[in-house]
Amino acid sequence: MSYLCRVLALNDFSFEFAGRYLFKQASWHIKPSEKIGLVGLNGTGKSTLLRLISGGFELREGTFSKPSDLRIGFLNQDLLSMDIGESVRDVVLSGRDDLVQLEHDIERLIEKIEVAYDDETMQRLSDAQERFGSLGGYEWHAEGDKILEGLGFPTPSLARPLREFSGGWRMRAMLGKLLLQAPDLLLLDEPTNHLDLPTIQWLEEYLANYEGTYVIVSHDPYFLDRTVNRVAEVAHQQVFHYKGNFSDYLEQKEERDSLMMRKYENQQDYIKQQMKFISRFRAKASKATAVQSRVKMLDKIDKIELRQDEKRDFDIRFNIRVAPGKVIADLRGVTKSYDELEILKASTAKIIRGDKIALVGANGKGKSTLLRMIFGSEPCGGIIEAGWNVEAAFFAQHQLEALNLKNDLLGELGTVSASYTDGELRTVLGCFLFSGDEVFKKVKVLSGGEKSRLALAKTLITQSNFLLLDEPTNHLDMFSTAVLAESLIDYEGSALIVSHDRSFINKVANKIWWIEEGVLREYPGNFEEYNEWNKQRSASKISLSKLHDGKKKPVTIAEKSPSSPSVLQEKNLAIGKNKVKKVEEAMHLKEAEMQQLEAVRLRVETQLLLPEIASDYQKLADFTQQYETVNQDYLKAKLAYEWFFEEWMLLQDS
Ligand SMILES: Nc1ncnc2c1ncn2[C@@H]1O[C@H](COP(=O)(O)OP(=O)(O)OP(=O)(O)O)[C@@H](O)[C@H]1O
Ligand SMILES: [Mg+2]
Repeated sequence: MSYLCRVLALNDFSFEFAGRYLFKQASWHIKPSEKIGLVGLNGTGKSTLLRLISGGFELREGTFSKPSDLRIGFLNQDLLSMDIGESVRDVVLSGRDDLVQLEHDIERLIEKIEVAYDDETMQRLSDAQERFGSLGGYEWHAEGDKILEGLGFPTPSLARPLREFSGGWRMRAMLGKLLLQAPDLLLLDEPTNHLDLPTIQWLEEYLANYEGTYVIVSHDPYFLDRTVNRVAEVAHQQVFHYKGNFSDYLEQKEERDSLMMRKYENQQDYIKQQMKFISRFRAKASKATAVQSRVKMLDKIDKIELRQDEKRDFDIRFNIRVAPGKVIADLRGVTKSYDELEILKASTAKIIRGDKIALVGANGKGKSTLLRMIFGSEPCGGIIEAGWNVEAAFFAQHQLEALNLKNDLLGELGTVSASYTDGELRTVLGCFLFSGDEVFKKVKVLSGGEKSRLALAKTLITQSNFLLLDEPTNHLDMFSTAVLAESLIDYEGSALIVSHDRSFINKVANKIWWIEEGVLREYPGNFEEYNEWNKQRSASKISLSKLHDGKKKPVTIAEKSPSSPSVLQEKNLAIGKNKVKKVEEAMHLKEAEMQQLEAVRLRVETQLLLPEIASDYQKLADFTQQYETVNQDYLKAKLAYEWFFEEWMLLQDS
């Protein structure tokens, strides 16, 4: 990999769309090895800035310098409309187009030699092979597969054309291509949109070991904290620079803002004093020179302008048209499979009026499918009964794809229902931060966050009492996400929300749903509590495996044949069998412990009832203490036994 050895510099640049300046005499320098988080509110110009660097837009004012051989890799924020017929594996491998070409050349030369051997062709072949090897050609496929595995692509899907995948998976494939390419400068525009938590964590780790320079646009503070050592903020038509990660940026920004405020106040004080002096002595001839010099001084002063906060009132109200019954949806023995792939087996759950449920978990578990099933747009087995008067509205990423690019905002929102007046539509758009002439903006030119806000407005204008929201915070800046969370908390209706945004879920949800081993499960608490519970669960799993380490049998993995499941799958299968045994053993252990403790408890109980004990205060206290201890131990053992039993049942089902 060649390194970025010179600085990329944008100096005094301005950029506008139809007279609206996104940047005015701004500057930005990128130095080698910088890992930059590019942040800012929706629509401030982050994607535009990346396009200016990658050559998608041309700069008309200011200067832009970069080394001519600088290799830039750009991941576009909008991948929904990508239509590529190549297979996912080929798309990723094409990140190294030099190797694609060489591989092709080698194949041709081999074919030629097979037909008629000649020394010159042989020499060319050996040169090509040597070059192929020195460029990492022999590791290239394996590296591609490793990246694809990290990004979560199941092996059988790698031969499928990219166009058959959802936006999220297309994003992953393009990300994989760029990672394989390892350019000098990597530009990633909101790479974590659509990615599930394990994949985000994988990407965090990947980037931590990445040797090149990169710029990442993201609205996810957790992600930025782990991946960047610089922050560039786009605001007020400028690019502001900060050292450190995202938390450092927030701290510095606060310091900078308060320092600015103090400077501003001091300056205002000073100006006021001078003005007072001037107006008091203006008429006095003896003070004329002093007044004159103060007037001049004030003229010359470099006035501090306070940066007006760009946050405008973004007050979403989710009204409901009619009140529903107590039960919103009742799921009984619900099942779902796609051909051989079983998504859900006999699951039972209820959504109660007022519930705000977060459906969490890795991609591919069927979260979006479940949402569509409850909405009624996806067939399934079992019974899903909608409650009385329930009016459901659905929001998903494909709503963004379905926006009519030719419409303006007003027209697009108007497509929901003809019964709204322009004034009413403008009010709704105002709540979603589109004001004045902006309502005539064409959908085509909207930024990612603006498109999301419009699609959300379309969902909410229906005034439904049950919202099914599939990743509603993708593309939204932190401010909009926080406001959306507040509005959902105040929302009188009920909601089922798929989201990977940890802080958003934690604020909004009162229950957590997830799909485990094909069964829908519920935790009746918020996300923090659920996480804590989950940690304890994993800890008992770890201690269980430690407990049985001595008895562990080596896992034998059969030779992998092309049609057999992947090595990983087989390993999982073997581990799975092993796990059943371990869980069974632990369950029996706990059962025995329970029986033993129960016997002790019974003995102490009998003692407690004896008149000679009941009448002796000290003895009574001692036995009560003993009883409480043994009872606690018994309850703990019972809890553990139930946990193992449940695990065992799940393993039987899978
Ligand atoms: N071709 C265009 N004509 C007019 N306005 C445009 C055009 N392209 C983009 N804009 C506007 O420029 C602004 C900046 O867009 P950009 O996509 O750079 O924002 P962003 O900072 O990336 O926002 P987000 O966080 O939502 O992705 C937006 O208000 C957008 O509507
Ligand atoms: Mg953008």
